[in-house]
Amino acid sequence: MAARLIATSPFVGIAVFVSLIALVAFYYKPFSQQRLFTVEELALYNGTDQSFPILLGILGSVFDVTKGKSHYGEGGGYNHFSGRDASRAFVSGNFTGDGLTDSLRDLSSTQVKSVVEWRDFYFRSYTFVGKLVGRYYDSEGNPTKYLKGVEAKAARGAQLLEKQKNEEAKQPSCNSRWSQDEGGEVCLPDVESNYRNQAVIVLLSQFL
Ligand code: HEM
Repeated sequence: MAARLIATSPFVGIAVFVSLIALVAFYYKPFSQQRLFTVEELALYNGTDQSFPILLGILGSVFDVTKGKSHYGEGGGYNHFSGRDASRAFVSGNFTGDGLTDSLRDLSSTQVKSVVEWRDFYFRSYTFVGKLVGRYYDSEGNPTKYLKGVEAKAARGAQLLEKQKNEEAKQPSCNSRWSQDEGGEVCLPDVESNYRNQAVIVLLSQFL
């Protein structure tokens, strides 16, 4: 009787369909937002097993870099970044042994900023697939104090660079340099532009 009702009533069919969608929506957590990796799990995705995607961690964010297989796959120039978080190597250029660490200890604020920029690069260029549990994310996937500290330091690095840029802009321009092999450097004043500036002042003073 019930089977007959289900088979004949369109409303029951719709109700079953809607319930199924709700169940799927509730339980399905997209791979890209949910996955938490341990160091050991991430290591499986280092490009050795061709049937696995190649994953790379930076500041605890994990990206699928399979489309960059020529760099990140076995034998590729940047294969040492695959299957791990080697955040420090993005600025140290030390791709061996202890250099392949996620610790940014003792790096300057501008170096830390560079690492954050590399992470931005991966967000722009590759697919984010999850987080690595450890230094940067806890077992719930929440950012750790260390990550917050890194981001604050990167922001200080950005401020410092901005300040330096403004200071440099205030310096008189220098159109000519002379340097001895290993010796000092002499910066000659930009005579031409000084004359030009003076000419403008003289011209303006006639009207003001
Ligand atoms: C701290 C040092 C360095 C780091 C961390 C670094 C990192 C990287 C990474 C991660 C990529 C791949 C980007 C992608 O996914 O598309 C890359 C690409 C590249 N790097 Fe480096 N690199 C460094 C130094 C150098 C140096 C010194 C050179 C040149 C002498 C160089 C030349 C290249 C070239 C040509 C590519 C592009 C390869 C291609 O698209 O086929 N890199 N680099």
